[in-house]
Amino acid sequence: MSTFQAPKGTYDLTPPRSATFLAVREAIAAPLRDSGYGYIETPGFENVELFARGVGESTDIVTKEMYTLTTKGGSQLALRPEGTASVLRAALEANLHKAGNLPVKLWYSGSYYRYERPQAGRYRHFSQVGAEAIGTEDPVLDAELIILADQAYRSLGLRRFRILLNSLGDKECRPVYREALQTFLRDLDLDEETRRRIEINPLRVLDDKRADVRKQLTDAPKLRDYLCDACKAYHEEVRALLTTAGVAFEDDEKLVRGLDYYTRTTFEFVHDGLGAQSAVGGGDGDDGLSEMIGGPELPSVGWALGVDRTVLALEAEGIELDLPSTTSVYAVPLGEEARRVLFGVVTELRRAGVAADFAFGGRGLKGAMKSANRSGARYTLVAGERDLAEGVVQLKDMESGEQGPVALAEVAAELTKRLG
Ligand code: HAM
Repeated sequence: MSTFQAPKGTYDLTPPRSATFLAVREAIAAPLRDSGYGYIETPGFENVELFARGVGESTDIVTKEMYTLTTKGGSQLALRPEGTASVLRAALEANLHKAGNLPVKLWYSGSYYRYERPQAGRYRHFSQVGAEAIGTEDPVLDAELIILADQAYRSLGLRRFRILLNSLGDKECRPVYREALQTFLRDLDLDEETRRRIEINPLRVLDDKRADVRKQLTDAPKLRDYLCDACKAYHEEVRALLTTAGVAFEDDEKLVRGLDYYTRTTFEFVHDGLGAQSAVGGGDGDDGLSEMIGGPELPSVGWALGVDRTVLALEAEGIELDLPSTTSVYAVPLGEEARRVLFGVVTELRRAGVAADFAFGGRGLKGAMKSANRSGARYTLVAGERDLAEGVVQLKDMESGEQGPVALAEVAAELTKRLG
C-alpha cells in the first residue's frame, strides 16, 4: 500500500469488478442510443450559479453538498453534483432547441460529486448515466424514458426493483398546493430547521423520516387533490402508456424528490436489496429549469440512473453478468528469439482486430500458462527455439485442450479464421 488512499467517500474501480461497471453503463446507454438519444458530454465543473439557480438554493445539494472552489482568476466553480442543469445549459448554449427538431433527446454518462455523509451506497464521487428530452411536452416522452430505464434494468437481469410514480403538478397548480401545505405545516410542532424548510421548500418536509414528524403529517393536504385538470390528464396518460407497455409501477403520493426544478411526472426506481440507499435511479419533468437558468420556456423531462447502486443491486440479486473474455489469443514465448517473433504475431493479430495478449517479462512456461488461463483466451500460442527452427508455433485450443503446430506465416490468418 502507498502512503495515500482514495479520499473519504470514494473508491476505485479496479479489475475484475470494473468490467461490471462498464457493462452497466453500456446496458443503460444502449436503449437510449437505439431510441434517438444523442450523446452529450459537459465539463466536470460549472459556474456555481448554474447549480444555485438550476438545482435550487433551498436544496441540500446546493446548501450542503457542493464541492465549490475559487479559481486563481477568481471564478466561483463547483464540481457538478448532477447532470440535468449542465445538459440544459449546454443544449441552450449550442442552440440545439432552435434546430427545428424537437424534442432534443440527449444522453450522458459521467462522474458526479456530492459532499454527503458516506455510507453503503452513498458516495462523494459516483457515476450516473442519464437522459433528457428537451422542448416538447408530451406524456409519451415521460413514458418512453421510464420504459427505457425499465428495459435497461431488465436487460441486466435485475428483477427486485420497483418503480414509484407521482405527479408534482405544474406552475398552475403546484403553487396553490404549496401554499395550502405551508399553512398546514406552520401549525405543527416542529424544530427550527424544519420551520425554515417550510418557508423555502415545504414539499421536502413531507420527506421527513422522523417518527414524531411523520405522525403529524398524516392529515397534510395531498398534492393529488390540488392537481389541475391538465396535470391530471397528463398523469393519467403516462400511467396508461406504462400499463400498455407492461411496465408495472406503484403510485406514491409521498414521492417528491429533492430538486427545485422538478415538475409534473416524478419517478424513482428503488431496489429492495439495498437497505437505506434504495434509489437506484430517478427522474422528473423539469419544466421550469430552462427559465431558471436564463433560457426560454422549454419543457423537459429526464432521468439519471446511478451506476454504483445498480452494480450493488446486481450483487444483491447475486447476478453475475456474462461478460465475454476480452482476450482471444494469449502468446507465450520461450526464449529471446521467440519473444520477438511472437510479439510480431500479437501485433499482427491486433491489427487484424483480434484481441491478443502476451506473456511479458520472460516468464517460465508454467507461470505463463497460468496467466493464459486467467486471461480467458480461447487460444494460446507457444513457441520455443525448436518450433522457430521448424518455422511453426504451437497452437492450443484452451476449450478442447487440442494442440498442434501451425506454420508461423499462417498463424495469424488461421486464428482470424477460427475466431470468425
Ligand atoms: P438524483 O435522484 O439526485 O437525480 O440521482 C439519481 C441517482 O443517482 C440516484 O437514484 C442514485 O442512484 C444516484 N446517486 C445520487 N447520489 C448518489 C451518491 N451520493 N452516491 C451514489 N449514488 C448516488 C438526479 O441527479 C437528477 N438530475 C435526475 C433527473 C434528470 N431529473 C430530471 N432529469
